[in-house]
Amino acid sequence: MLEAEFREAVRGLPLAKSAYFSSVASTNDVVATWAREGLQGLCLAYADEQTSGRGRAGRRWLTPSGSALAFSLLLAPAQLFEPNLLGLVSGLGALAVCKALETLYQLSPKIKWPNDVLLEGRKVSGVLAESSWAGEQLQALILGIGINVAPNSAPPAKELNFPATCLENVLGKKVNSALLLRSILDSLIAWKDRLSEPTFVQAWEQRLAFKGERVRLGIGEKSIVEGEIHGLSADGQLQIRLPSAEVQTFHMGEIQIRSLVDRPLK
Ligand code: BTN
Repeated sequence: MLEAEFREAVRGLPLAKSAYFSSVASTNDVVATWAREGLQGLCLAYADEQTSGRGRAGRRWLTPSGSALAFSLLLAPAQLFEPNLLGLVSGLGALAVCKALETLYQLSPKIKWPNDVLLEGRKVSGVLAESSWAGEQLQALILGIGINVAPNSAPPAKELNFPATCLENVLGKKVNSALLLRSILDSLIAWKDRLSEPTFVQAWEQRLAFKGERVRLGIGEKSIVEGEIHGLSADGQLQIRLPSAEVQTFHMGEIQIRSLVDRPLK
């Protein structure tokens, strides 16, 4: 997306600051710097290309020029979010991406908990929620979102830990990235002050991938749990029904979910 298209896409939004980069290391790093500088309010950094884009668990995230959406929001001050709502911020990004894909393209995206967006069982978007601290004090929350739009935005097969896709392959047509960005930002802004409402977790849960299906959870390096996805707790944690019928809650962290139901991948 060109800078003029970006400026048009964000026109009229309640942003304290917005910046466009034709190329930058990582938009999450840009807004982390803003947090350290004390910027307040809702701030947005957008990049046409990222040279050191980061994913969860230290993985790299590809953003080649002209082929993807990559942006980060600074939500500051963090005090606006009660501590028990912090886990929910991570679902906020995924929900906003889903809403935009539903509204603009009548797609039925799913959220692989906590925040990967899937189309046809493959990952099309990832969310990296981070926090910025000044000593013991939580300063700001950072919500980074990446979306594979054109085919060259999907990572090479050898780097995948989950099958990937891109929006243009699913739709079979070109995508207007500026419209998509605007729609996601509209949803984010509409939902960000409503995280404590039950409707927010309900909306997230409605789109939960593998709900009611048997899955294997890889927790950390070694531990593995098998069970059925039951749903989400009020604070957005994952509930799994174990073979013993006990429902156990799993907290965010590096949990990997794999479906145990055979489904052909297109
Ligand atoms: C993941 O699925 O592992 C999370 C991917 C998050 C990628 C986005 S792109 C914009 C922002 N800047 C980054 O370096 N990462 C996030």
